[in-house]
Amino acid sequence: MEADIYALPDDLGRYDLVLITIGVLNWMPDLPRFFQIVRGLMSPGAFLVIYETHPMLEVFNPGSANPFVPENSYFDKTPVRIEEAITYDGSDGGAGETGYWFVHTLGEIVTACVQSGLRLQCLQEHPHLNREVEYAIYENQTAQMPLCYTLVAEAPCVPNTKA
Ligand SMILES: C[S@@+](CC[C@H](N)C(=O)[O-])C[C@H]1O[C@@H](n2cnc3c(N)ncnc32)[C@H](O)[C@@H]1O
Repeated sequence: MEADIYALPDDLGRYDLVLITIGVLNWMPDLPRFFQIVRGLMSPGAFLVIYETHPMLEVFNPGSANPFVPENSYFDKTPVRIEEAITYDGSDGGAGETGYWFVHTLGEIVTACVQSGLRLQCLQEHPHLNREVEYAIYENQTAQMPLCYTLVAEAPCVPNTKA
């Protein structure tokens, strides 16, 4: 099923596993609401697994003349307007639909997750890359920054009545 997560149909049921992978959270303007909705779709004891790109990468622009010099503040809240089609192989996809990319810090992501009522089980940052190939220049560095992360959270066994 395909739908806007902020306007889901009623009665979708509850699930034992929610999986969010690469390139999802940055399309979400309202992270606390996003996690509340996810939480409401989870059965008691269900697991949420997130395998996402690391927000540190938003600080750098691999296409700039000095790609290792920080270009954006980690804390900048200005949505990034995207008008090009997104490709994953480094090719130019030309014009695409206009979209907005919202930058969330790791602290905001974890806080929104925990405040939804989920219990954080694990947050592991990884040195390997899981986003577009342009960002491969940041991998295998001596002074390595985190490039992606895995977060696991569990829905408590008390049924959620808030969502
Ligand atoms: C870059 S893709 C990531 C795809 C995912 N990693 C996968 O393997 O299927 C971003 C996804 O977020 C979805 N998305 C963006 N905004 C959304 C919204 N408001 N509600 C539901 N899905 C949304 C898009 O439809 C797209 O499937």
